[in-house]
Amino acid sequence: MAKKTTLSLKTMKENGEKITMITAYDYSSATLAQKAGIDMILVGDSLQMVMMGDSSTIAATTDDMIHHTKAVMAGAPDTFVVTDMPFGSCSSAMTAIENATRIMKEGRCDAVKIEGGVNMAPIIKAVVDAGIPVVGHIGLTPQTTSKLGGFKIQGKGEAAGEVLKDALAVQEAGAFMIVLECVPAELSTLISQRLDVPTIGIGAGNGTDGQVLVYHDLLGLFDKFVPKFVKVYRKIGSEIEAGI
Ligand code: KIV
Repeated sequence: MAKKTTLSLKTMKENGEKITMITAYDYSSATLAQKAGIDMILVGDSLQMVMMGDSSTIAATTDDMIHHTKAVMAGAPDTFVVTDMPFGSCSSAMTAIENATRIMKEGRCDAVKIEGGVNMAPIIKAVVDAGIPVVGHIGLTPQTTSKLGGFKIQGKGEAAGEVLKDALAVQEAGAFMIVLECVPAELSTLISQRLDVPTIGIGAGNGTDGQVLVYHDLLGLFDKFVPKFVKVYRKIGSEIEAGI
């Protein structure tokens, strides 16, 4: 399968083909994801939770993201790889450009992902203007869960308008794709119809242009915190335990 590009991902949306994305953090999981024919891999800062056992993503660093991106690129060189910009790496436009440039040059991935809506649009624009492809991430943004009141659904009732404004601002800033996390299905469907760029949902219903899941959640490898919306496709954790 040919490696996807920002352009071919947009064409998938236009043709109504669903985009598949999974997280991976190391060589072996990336190899399996590529063999399975996944469209995109996300080196998510969720690694701080599922790999390091932490209760949030906050402590992940740019160096951590680069280290794991190198492993993923070794395992999945023919898959489009997006790496998360971790908490604190986008505190100003210049800091964001510097960190995103390091992630691209040292990690060799294809794009970076930045959490935040209207408030982050100027920073997203600066990174895009520096020549770096950006995926946006709105709705529930795990780096700011303490502000959002925990891992809770966003955009219910009157708050829906705010999420829509975030989506439009992030698209306008130049993001080529937007992750919608934990928003009501009707809202994510509406946003997906309004936007030209593809949307990728997680806990956002079936109306998005694609879906992303955390590798460890999908395979039953991490039971410390499993979001309610997660579909566990295989329970590999107990198999591994039995094997060991
Ligand atoms: O870090 C991550 O795994 C993510 C996904 C939940 C989208 O951002």
